[in-house]
Amino acid sequence: MDILVVGGGGRESAIVASLKKNPSVGRVWCAPGNGGIVDSVPINVMDFDGLTAFAKEKQVGFVVVGPDDPLAAGLVDRLEEAGFPCFGPDAKAAVIEASKAFSKALMKEYGIPTASYEVFSDVKEALGYIERCRLPIVIKADGLALGKGVVIAYTRTEACRAVTEAMVGMKFGKSGEKLVIEEFLTGPEVSVLSFTDGNVVVPMVSSMDHKRAYDGDEGPNTGGMGAVAPNPFYTDEVAAQCMERIFLPTIRAMKAIGRPFKGCLYFGLMLTPLGPKVIEYNCRFGDPEAEVVLPLLESDLLTIMRHVHDGTLSDGDVRFRKDSACCVVLASGGYPLAYKKGKRITIGTADAAIFHAGTALESDVLVTNGGRVLDVVATAPTLREAVDKAYKATHAITFEGMYMRNDIGRRALSGE
Ligand code: AMP
Ligand code: GLY
Repeated sequence: MDILVVGGGGRESAIVASLKKNPSVGRVWCAPGNGGIVDSVPINVMDFDGLTAFAKEKQVGFVVVGPDDPLAAGLVDRLEEAGFPCFGPDAKAAVIEASKAFSKALMKEYGIPTASYEVFSDVKEALGYIERCRLPIVIKADGLALGKGVVIAYTRTEACRAVTEAMVGMKFGKSGEKLVIEEFLTGPEVSVLSFTDGNVVVPMVSSMDHKRAYDGDEGPNTGGMGAVAPNPFYTDEVAAQCMERIFLPTIRAMKAIGRPFKGCLYFGLMLTPLGPKVIEYNCRFGDPEAEVVLPLLESDLLTIMRHVHDGTLSDGDVRFRKDSACCVVLASGGYPLAYKKGKRITIGTADAAIFHAGTALESDVLVTNGGRVLDVVATAPTLREAVDKAYKATHAITFEGMYMRNDIGRRALSGE
């Protein structure tokens, strides 16, 4: 059977690699893909007509939608209508990521632990609230903003600037017309991706993202500069609490309000002194979390995805190897701000998987084509070994302006 994967980043490279482990899988097309995915086809993720026509032309048997934008805009609804079974939520369930005002209201109504918050659509009211709120304070654009719509303000001046930039300056376009302003929480962060068919939820191995651009968690937020799995702060006891207070209540709540969620539901958690709380939900695999979680998956990804689609996940087999994984992102100098594209990439031999993200082939030459360029992913029996192996493998790669963090896994290792 041939499959279509929609997206073209490191996450989709990891999904393609996992799907290909199943011997019954034929071609895995990827739209738009990148310079490292063999069967990349140049169709934009928001070109629903083009994607549907391509799925028909190639008679694909299954579609996996990677990124949030097409999920939120209803690509799964569209493809399912055309008769293609998909992995991913429909638009009505994807709203759990696409609107923070929605997800916060859901959590409030169903008693799911999260930061206390207010929602504002009026700039004067938002600024009035900033005058009296406790600091630091967290300001979030309601809609999708490529992981960059969150500002942690330590002073009222910073907070006012963030509100004004979003609501008046329209820094995040329509996504920032409404803001969620919430309490600042502290504690280690954990990403838990889960498979859910709308009834049953099966968490994957936990992971830890590294969102800031520079070492020591300094600098601007990025899409993620690296990840490790498992996350040592996520003990069995914490996992049990999360299942009871967060995962099951969320799945039940979505079903109860007529938005059953099928696909990968990502729980962004903070382990606060008062217990685990939800920082955010994503309606898809995390990037770079997928790059460390999927290589540890022992069971067959396509079989699991089909169970999710068919609503039979309780019959599924979801097992992970007991190893650890580390992903180091190689980025273009300047990312997440301005950076150059089109730099020639050389890759030597490396004892690690290299997932392509922002790469392209120009007349058969591999060049940079995005902020996050390549993901170097190593697995090993211990996290220490996985981290060392991944960093060693980065030496095999060069391109002008190549930038990476040098401390991926450090916090996890100190917490072990
Ligand atoms: P988000 O896009 O909602 O995941 O937020 C991006 C990052 O901002 C998170 O990974 C956290 O590090 C941080 N963050 C978000 N919300 C809060 C909060 N309420 N308290 C402290 N940090 C937060
Ligand atoms: N790594 C965070 C995300 O995928 O949103």
